Amino acid sequence: MNVTLEMIDEAAEVVRRRLSAPVRVGLILGSGLNAVAEAVDAEAVLSYTEVPHFPPATVEGHVGRLVAGRLEGQAVVVMQGRAHYYEGYSMAQVTLPVRVMQALGVGILIVTNAAGGLNPAFRPGDVMLIRDHISLVGMTGLNPLRGPNLDRFGPRFPDMSCAYDSDLRAAARAVGEREKIPLYEGVYVCLAGPNFETPADIRFLRIIGADAVGMSTVPEVTVARHGGMRVLGLSGISNVAISEEGVAGETTHEEVLEAGRLLAPRIEAIIRGVLRQL
Ligand code: HPA
Repeated sequence: MNVTLEMIDEAAEVVRRRLSAPVRVGLILGSGLNAVAEAVDAEAVLSYTEVPHFPPATVEGHVGRLVAGRLEGQAVVVMQGRAHYYEGYSMAQVTLPVRVMQALGVGILIVTNAAGGLNPAFRPGDVMLIRDHISLVGMTGLNPLRGPNLDRFGPRFPDMSCAYDSDLRAAARAVGEREKIPLYEGVYVCLAGPNFETPADIRFLRIIGADAVGMSTVPEVTVARHGGMRVLGLSGISNVAISEEGVAGETTHEEVLEAGRLLAPRIEAIIRGVLRQL
């Protein structure tokens, strides 16, 4: 299903009516990272089901609420949970909330996710600053920009050479150093899911240069960059990807949510530190 300007404007209008001022920063919280929204001094809280055309969150660990208010002095709008392609939504639906944020005035997007660690140095609980991504899903045609171009937001053929803003990354690194939170930096690869990867998948993803693997973020960042937003991406490493057949252990969603409890305070500290520097 395509998303039209009318749909975006209808959704944005419902949110705008609840706000006293435009929002500047958008935050998307991934699996197990809902707690970051509790830190917001909230002016409005909307369930996704209240916002026209918003895809309701169906995955455990994704609350499905939009929280608008102040965090570290910045006017923010936070998505507590997101939609994924594997839930059955089109890529355009998955990314509609980013369009709505753009319509509300958001110019900076902070995206977070839970990801599997491909880089052998990574351990559960580590945080990776996303330096770049590989859009495996986009390369195979599942691109949220497919269909008529929304000229009001950006060009037909958007540049993706600087998808993740270098100044925002530097700000995050500075926070990491100050707060003694070790920050890795690397490449995130997005697969459609919902199954986790086979060991052969994992070996392939390492060869093509990916450090972390997940099932989100890339569609939202693609749309954000199309609309000219500056993007900061943070992956919480929730599990170490299994790259050998027959090795004991398996990857589970419970493991992902469990690691979120460790990761949420670290990711919150980085986000708050970056917001203070804006
Ligand atoms: N693979 C894909 N997506 C994920 C993983 C993983 O290992 N962990 C959290 N999200």
